[in-house]
Amino acid sequence: MATKCIITGVPGVGKTTVITGALAKLEEMGVHYANISFGSFMFETALAEGLVQNRDEMRLLAKNDQKELQRKAAGRIAAIDGNVLVDTHASVKTPRGYLAGLPEWVLEALMPDLFVLVETDEDQILGRRLGDSSRVRDMDSYRALASHQSFNRAIAAANAMKTGCTVAIVLNADHLLDRAIDDLAALLK
Ligand code: AP5
Repeated sequence: MATKCIITGVPGVGKTTVITGALAKLEEMGVHYANISFGSFMFETALAEGLVQNRDEMRLLAKNDQKELQRKAAGRIAAIDGNVLVDTHASVKTPRGYLAGLPEWVLEALMPDLFVLVETDEDQILGRRLGDSSRVRDMDSYRALASHQSFNRAIAAANAMKTGCTVAIVLNADHLLDRAIDDLAALLK
């Protein structure tokens, strides 16, 4: 039976890096997943509608614009058959507080079997954001990052209650990327 997995983590935690490694490993084992970036689906629409010029501007848009982009992305992703891995956010830090990445109508469209949180220590996340000159990253404090990761666990629990999905945490620590890749591949195989 096909698996629908939603994978999340605060920006810069390295979820895209872990996903790329795990999906390559799974392909070697003959297991295929469609690798879907929820942010890219949102960005295509936002760009076409002239709302933003880069993906880091999306979290600064008015709440209703972000919600409309979420709804359109969810509808397109829900139509994809087979094993699907959706790379997204449990919550997005906006100027007016956290926006749920998967509000009820998005969850109902996607109905995941598995919800994965990629986490690591806050000082490591800060270091990765500082080292990433290709993006416009928020420079949060240690405390703000801890609060965001903790809020995301609460969201994961709420999503599990709503959909019946299981929740797994993958630790992506410095120098231990291979272990994170193995852990995610084991969850998805
Ligand atoms: P998205 O496309 O998900 O971008 P992001 O959050 O910035 O995530 P990235 O994929 O760029 O970063 P990452 O954490 O995966 O880290 P990476 O692998 O690059 O979202 C873009 C936007 O879309 C959001 O801001 C939001 O506006 C919107 N959006 C998306 N979903 C939404 C939703 N559901 N609702 C509303 N809006 C939504 O790695 C970072 C660095 O760390 C790299 O340099 C890497 O080499 C390094 N690294 C990784 N692992 C390790 C390790 N183990 N040790 C050392 N270094 C490591």
